[in-house]
Amino acid sequence: MTLMFDNISLKSSLLPCLEEAKILSYHRTRLGGQIFHVLLVSQKEAFVKIGKSYEKYEIIEEYKNLSLLQGSLPVPEVYDYITTDSQAMIVLEKMPGFPLNSMISLLGRNHSLSIIKDILDALKSVPNSVKNNFEIASKQELKNIKSLIDNNLINKDNFMKGSRDLDPVAAFNKIQNDLNNHNTQVLTHGDLCLPNILVTIGKWSLIDWGKGGNGDSARDLSALEGSLKRNIDEQAFPQVCEMMNIEMNITLSQKLEIYKLMDLFWYNKSL
Ligand SMILES: Nc1ncnc2c1ncn2[C@@H]1O[C@H](COP(=O)(O)OP(=O)(O)OP(=O)(O)O)[C@@H](O)[C@H]1O
Ligand SMILES: [Mg+2]
Repeated sequence: MTLMFDNISLKSSLLPCLEEAKILSYHRTRLGGQIFHVLLVSQKEAFVKIGKSYEKYEIIEEYKNLSLLQGSLPVPEVYDYITTDSQAMIVLEKMPGFPLNSMISLLGRNHSLSIIKDILDALKSVPNSVKNNFEIASKQELKNIKSLIDNNLINKDNFMKGSRDLDPVAAFNKIQNDLNNHNTQVLTHGDLCLPNILVTIGKWSLIDWGKGGNGDSARDLSALEGSLKRNIDEQAFPQVCEMMNIEMNITLSQKLEIYKLMDLFWYNKSL
């Protein structure tokens, strides 16, 4: 297989680090992007993400976010990065370990939840000098959602099955209105689900930073709630909240609903 980027093969000198790289595996992302697991000539393994349209936008954000986070959180190093008019490509250090969702039975429930607590604590302790350089994530996400609606890219019927019958425009207006009352001071990952947490003995790392940015802590809690329900059980999320001294009140549960509603646009986007 030849890795193509704007019709230029991987063997081209487009990105020097990819010259003569071997492709180990290929994966298509939910939104239509491409991810290659490669072996570089230096014998280091890397992940190459390539995307167009909204995926391109996320790769650009991932590049900016990872550059800001180096040294503050365990995240992949960016080996290389390029954008063209239509696409973006990033070459990332392969982080050790396996996705947390595949490690729960091995690690045990309590240890898995304690890793999640460590991650939430680590996100909170990123210094202001780093955090202040991030953009407010939901502002840009709202612009992207608006453009999905304007370009008729949402499957309305499916969307309304998950939105308690709000149509995409009504949901967008509700989100826009409610976000005015959310905080913007916390560094959020934006897709804090178990597959984006890689774990190995005594270590964890966080990948997939395309939606990262400052926002309300409910943004990450919302993704976490869904992922914990899917991968562990109903009690896992309340347990994490208890470990973090987070009170599950009406304000928080309304905020969680807003971020779920935002996600629904991406789950119902036609490719
Ligand atoms: N730097 C990395 N180190 C190790 N594994 C990685 C790295 N980047 C990506 N992967 C692997 O590729 C998978 C998909 O990558 P990523 O999460 O960045 O993209 P995605 O847009 O979420 O893809 P999908 O839509 O399929 O979930 C990850 O779950 C992980 O298994
Ligand atoms: Mg991911």
